[in-house]
Amino acid sequence: MLITFEGIDGAGKSTQVTRLKRRLQESGREVLTLREPGGTEVCENIRELLLQSKHDITPVAELLLFAASRAELVEKVVRPALDKGAVVILDRFSDSTTAYQGYGRGLSLEMLEEVNRIATFGLQPDITFYLDLSPEDAMIRKFSEKSLPLAFDSGELDRMESSGLEFYRRVREGYLRLQEAHPDRILLLDARLPPSTLQETISAHVAHREASPARIP
Ligand SMILES: Nc1ncnc2c1ncn2[C@@H]1O[C@H](COP(=O)(O)OP(=O)(O)OP(=O)(O)O)[C@@H](O)[C@H]1O
Ligand SMILES: [Mg+2]
Repeated sequence: MLITFEGIDGAGKSTQVTRLKRRLQESGREVLTLREPGGTEVCENIRELLLQSKHDITPVAELLLFAASRAELVEKVVRPALDKGAVVILDRFSDSTTAYQGYGRGLSLEMLEEVNRIATFGLQPDITFYLDLSPEDAMIRKFSEKSLPLAFDSGELDRMESSGLEFYRRVREGYLRLQEAHPDRILLLDARLPPSTLQETISAHVAHREASPARIP
């Protein structure tokens, strides 16, 4: 089973990935968690390149770097793990491309669909948890995490994070439209709820899906 977590930076994805992994392992499942971009040596290098503030990357180059990282990860790690029967949990996947590069940066959605298809070899998540949070709330979380005063130009944020509130508003809008378009796959969660409440909802949903798989492998 492939489970993905989506949401803007600071929405609480990593927090829930960790909790779900622990819960599934406790019930005896083999679980692999990976973050995008990352997961292999090549992917980690691409991640560095993408997140470093000093690089000025064009939108299409950014898209293709994310896609390159994903293709590598799917073929080398995700597919083999799924074939062995493991649960794979991804911290970001194709929906991030649509939300960030499509709605955020304004690239053509048709082009993104094609690039996503190539990069994933057609692999689709069984379940996607979308943690919905306003960019303002997300920024407050990020700044308190780094013990910084709330200022959006402090130079302490990475390249993606410093793209500004307007950008994140568009990204959120993109996620909401994706959820509307794929209501069976994407579960919308209010990311302001306490982590333990979100964890219960997520675990229950996964258990339900495991009991009645929607997809024939
Ligand atoms: N449900 C929640 N309510 C309040 N705070 C939360 C919640 N979930 C996570 N946090 C806090 O918000 C911050 C961001 O959480 P987390 O790192 O899990 O988000 P993320 O979506 O993985 O962010 P990024 O995209 O930057 O990796 C952390 O300080 C975390 O402790
Ligand atoms: Mg994270």
